Amino acid sequence: MTTGKCKGSFITFEGIDACGKSTQARLSHEFLRRNDLDAICFRDPGTTAISESVRHILLDNRNSAMSAWTELLLYEAARAQLVEEEIRPALVRGATVLCDRFYDSTTAYQGYGRGLDLDIVRRANEIGSVGLTPDLTFFLDIDPRLAFERKRMTGVAEDRLEAEGMAFQEKVRHGFRELQKAEPHRVRRIDGHCAIETIQLEIQSMIMRVISL
Ligand code: TMP
Repeated sequence: MTTGKCKGSFITFEGIDACGKSTQARLSHEFLRRNDLDAICFRDPGTTAISESVRHILLDNRNSAMSAWTELLLYEAARAQLVEEEIRPALVRGATVLCDRFYDSTTAYQGYGRGLDLDIVRRANEIGSVGLTPDLTFFLDIDPRLAFERKRMTGVAEDRLEAEGMAFQEKVRHGFRELQKAEPHRVRRIDGHCAIETIQLEIQSMIMRVISL
């Protein structure tokens, strides 16, 4: 485990599939860099070579036999590697770390979506995040029907999780909403139906408040 005090801020972007969080994470990163701030953007699962290999296994449509428990542990394994190899060293250096998804996705997808016991998921999340908690989380809330339409317009084939369908996305959305209610100071709900630029301005002002604390 990497030691050292985290000086930087850790900010995550969450929501159902095709909610617009990756676009907002990218725009936020560009905004911070334009302002000469030390900022870095990662994706979970993924980023490091090991985590990207695990991501490939998780999203591969041929892995339809995967049990929900295996799925849970693979997300946690990918995350632990990302935390140890990239996130914690960047935070110790003092950088602002943006991450496209983190453990709230596990609670929403594997807990509320797959129906795994929420207390076990919480304990698994503690292991996978190696004790790291985001300072601020944006939950981009959007109607799954609109997200599905957006996704269809891109023409990109569905991965194993996306292929679970609308009812699954509804359960996941409910999970994110419960998380927001439980931790309203950390998890900020953003109306994902607004224009990209409007959302980005709202996000920028909240990020600046957190990093100047
Ligand atoms: P992406 O939307 O960031 O590409 O994430 C890939 C998929 O993985 C997406 O369908 C959400 C899902 N996921 C989980 O089911 N559990 C998790 O813990 C994470 C991080 C993602």
